[in-house]
Amino acid sequence: MSEGKILSGFLAPHPPHMVYAENPPQNEPRSEGGWEQLRWAYDHARASIEKLKPDVLLVHTPHWITQVGHHFLGVPRLEGRSVDPIFPNLFRYDFGMDVDVELAEACCAEANKLGIVSKMMRNPKFRVDYGTITTLHMVRPQWDIPVVGISANNTPYYLSTGEGQGEMDILGRATREAIRKTGRRAVLLASNTLSHWHFHEEPELPEDMSKEHPERYDGYKWDMRMIELMRKGRMKEVFETMPQFIDEAFAEVKSGAFTWMHAAMGYPELAGKLHGYGTVIGTGNAVIEWNLEEAGLSSLGAEARVA
Ligand SMILES: [Fe+2]
Repeated sequence: MSEGKILSGFLAPHPPHMVYAENPPQNEPRSEGGWEQLRWAYDHARASIEKLKPDVLLVHTPHWITQVGHHFLGVPRLEGRSVDPIFPNLFRYDFGMDVDVELAEACCAEANKLGIVSKMMRNPKFRVDYGTITTLHMVRPQWDIPVVGISANNTPYYLSTGEGQGEMDILGRATREAIRKTGRRAVLLASNTLSHWHFHEEPELPEDMSKEHPERYDGYKWDMRMIELMRKGRMKEVFETMPQFIDEAFAEVKSGAFTWMHAAMGYPELAGKLHGYGTVIGTGNAVIEWNLEEAGLSSLGAEARVA
């Protein structure tokens, strides 16, 4: 078996508007385009993934909500139609994905071993949420790399931000161990928006970019402050500042994907590559990559090979 590696991790947000704007054959509604700067940011993510040639893409989404524990997609092939409940006018997408069930089961087992409730999702007719699909479509529209999908237990919302992020840290460490043991070459995707203040009314033509702007200036300023820290690799400060960012910018990183991903990567003090930033109905979205392979940090440690 080859050595397990986490090749790269992406902050990879999921407003369905980007899929709508791309007009892929899988999505029924048609558009005139829009949100180009974010979509071009995803072009860089696509190029990086093409170069890294991962075995698997792991994605944590805030929009598959499981009240009891953390769940993992556990069906080898999932197909169906996914509709965004908030924007059914923009996203009615026929998905088909291969799931790396062996790795998902390993993640689930490691998480249970570390004391957090985790479970496999075995429903063959399960309708995958738009967060998972949008992020995966934007990084790899060919859908030719198996995936591991992870639900949001939403612990931070009914406990505290601190307790919730603590649980996501454990989930990240479990994910790292599972990747190491199964020998996968993995890419991680944290499907999160930054500031999350949004419009309450959609423009008549949703893709009319003359109407697109940050919903709140304080949210925009928070995004710039956090992105600047990430670009400089000051990740310890990012995590120290995150609770305040979450409270003051209503940031979607609260749902835990960002913490999960960095915990799995071992919290590298590594500069994130900003591929692009843009707002979608006023929310702040950045595509940022921490390329561990390029930095020589992708190996998951020797203790694994001894064990
Ligand atoms: Fe979201």
